[in-house]
Amino acid sequence: MRTALTDLVGVRHPLVQTGMGWVAGPRLVSAVAEAGALGILGSATMTPDGLRAAIRKVRSRTRQPFGVNLRADAGDARERVDILIEEGVRVASFALAPSRELIARLKDAGVVVVPSVGARRHAEKVAAWGADAVVVQGAEGGGHTGEVATSVLLPQVVDAVGIPVVAAGGFRDGRGLVAALAFGAAGVAMGTRFLLTADSTVPDAVKAVYLAATVRDVTVTTKVDGLPHRMLRTPFVAGLERSGRLGGLVRSLRHAAAFRALSGSGWAAMVRDGLAMRHGRELTWGQVLMAANTPVLLRAAMVDGRTDLGVMASGQVAGVIDDLPTCADLVGRVMAEAEEVLAALGAPGAAP
Ligand SMILES: Cc1cc2nc3c(=O)[nH]c(=O)nc-3n(C[C@H](O)[C@H](O)[C@H](O)COP(=O)(O)O)c2cc1C
Repeated sequence: MRTALTDLVGVRHPLVQTGMGWVAGPRLVSAVAEAGALGILGSATMTPDGLRAAIRKVRSRTRQPFGVNLRADAGDARERVDILIEEGVRVASFALAPSRELIARLKDAGVVVVPSVGARRHAEKVAAWGADAVVVQGAEGGGHTGEVATSVLLPQVVDAVGIPVVAAGGFRDGRGLVAALAFGAAGVAMGTRFLLTADSTVPDAVKAVYLAATVRDVTVTTKVDGLPHRMLRTPFVAGLERSGRLGGLVRSLRHAAAFRALSGSGWAAMVRDGLAMRHGRELTWGQVLMAANTPVLLRAAMVDGRTDLGVMASGQVAGVIDDLPTCADLVGRVMAEAEEVLAALGAPGAAP
């Protein structure tokens, strides 16, 4: 199926596996790329050296194009951008809007820039700054998320910008892809669906918790890092919701120290990142500190398999996913279903 997205990034299918910290590593990304979709490495939780090694690992496993997701507000974003350019990565994806300067630098080097946004005005801003496409994530999506549902946000953004729009938040199958195309999207991006595949390195015990979840077991909390964050409602998350300010601050300090060790970033870099996060937002220093929690708590679940004290970021769609296909099977099945739906709708040019 050819769309503005497949033309832009050179993949066979208009499907994207989004960059997810600790989840979207070389194994998942290369499996997605080999399946003909766009895989994106989640690099926010990697050191710069780790990022370079991960890019090379993907490259050793596939010749297909892939992308890297960066935190636009990270103090070392520029260094990471240089790594993408040096390593010849096809697509740069961003959590939060990147600066005009970063976009220009990547585009000058021939990298396709596709920021993820959760609001129309952010889409308008990055489009005006030269982004090649945007991923727009509706409220039902996993991880940090906004308030407006995909069904409302997607057509709003499609109407507002003149660049290809990729729909995210709540997608898992071929019907969803056709619905997104009907809204004017150039494809869909899926996080939770790709996390729940046989190729994802997330521990089996953690996948089992996702598979058992109903749509009502997925919640949004600000208690992890001060920003609305969609995740599975576990007893641990319920405990965070009940905890007071002081307990939260002590916990945050502990996790901030752990993150420093994991990410290799010094305290100065963390304070710089914290200042960048505060910029333009109503975050207290306590909340900035809490932000350092997220990578550590995600890691506990996604890498160490600690379902008891980890954070399991998740879209609502986890409640309607009940299997763990390979990426090849998943992509094949989504595309086959999309063709069937288009044919049933009598769409011109669709398979009979
Ligand atoms: C476990 C998990 C980790 C995530 N980490 C990131 C991240 O590091 N950077 C980012 O831009 N988005 C991140 N997201 C959001 C996804 O990239 C994507 O936008 C979202 O999952 C789409 O909604 P869906 O889960 O309904 O498919 C994460 C989502 C999940 C479920």
